[in-house]
Amino acid sequence: MRARYSQCAVATFLILIWAVGGCGSAKPLLISDGSLDAIRLPAPRTTGGKPLMEALGDRQSSRDFSPASLSEQVLSDLLWAAFGINRPDSGKRTAPSALNWQETDIYVFTHQGAYLYDASENALLPIAAGDHRSATGSALQPYVKKAPVNLVYVVDSARSGIVGRVMSTEDRDMFSDAAVGFISQNVYLYCASEGLSTVVRGMVDRESLTTLLSLRPEQRIILAQSVGYPAE
Ligand SMILES: Cc1cc2nc3c(=O)[nH]c(=O)nc-3n(C[C@H](O)[C@H](O)[C@H](O)COP(=O)(O)O)c2cc1C
Repeated sequence: MRARYSQCAVATFLILIWAVGGCGSAKPLLISDGSLDAIRLPAPRTTGGKPLMEALGDRQSSRDFSPASLSEQVLSDLLWAAFGINRPDSGKRTAPSALNWQETDIYVFTHQGAYLYDASENALLPIAAGDHRSATGSALQPYVKKAPVNLVYVVDSARSGIVGRVMSTEDRDMFSDAAVGFISQNVYLYCASEGLSTVVRGMVDRESLTTLLSLRPEQRIILAQSVGYPAE
């Protein structure tokens, strides 16, 4: 499906919008049945860690995880590194997004339940009680259900607002897919810095996860990422 407006018109429009910085915001639906409490995370530790070049030197995928849980402090640091707010005045994040759409939501799966990361409240909002970690992977990757934390990256095209409607769906989705890549790399670098294991995964059971998370048609599951301490 090709763009409906001439490239020039879209380009002018984009520059205009780019200049004013950002578009609409549809909040995800909370569906927890009350048997899972929200978690207010401790303030993230936003200093320290390995120097960047060393973290880049140590960045790698690893699929061997210890079952040991991550503390709420480490979870807070990890999620802030991934896509936290690093400029409270503007609400802008540790990872870029086209036109500052901030269209990516991070769902956090632990043995207790599935949560939605709320960066502005630094909290985990309850979505589904129970251990659904295996739903974030596929039968080909049994290690997924052992990893203490599985992150699921969901983009919401409803947040791309008017611009998202005038540009081609391919362009809009390409921007959102790229935005998820930046977030995943932040997680890789944080894990390299903290000695954690992680692997990003394209092989995800999107159908059952879409049902579990009650996602709207505008929401797409892009990737998942397992995180945990290295297996002993
Ligand atoms: C978009 C994307 C999807 C991936 N999907 C999977 C996956 O489903 N399962 C898996 O075990 N690794 C997956 N990987 C990890 C790659 O296998 C890994 O990055 C590659 O082997 C290079 O290894 P390195 O990350 O240690 O440099 C994926 C990587 C990317 C960038």
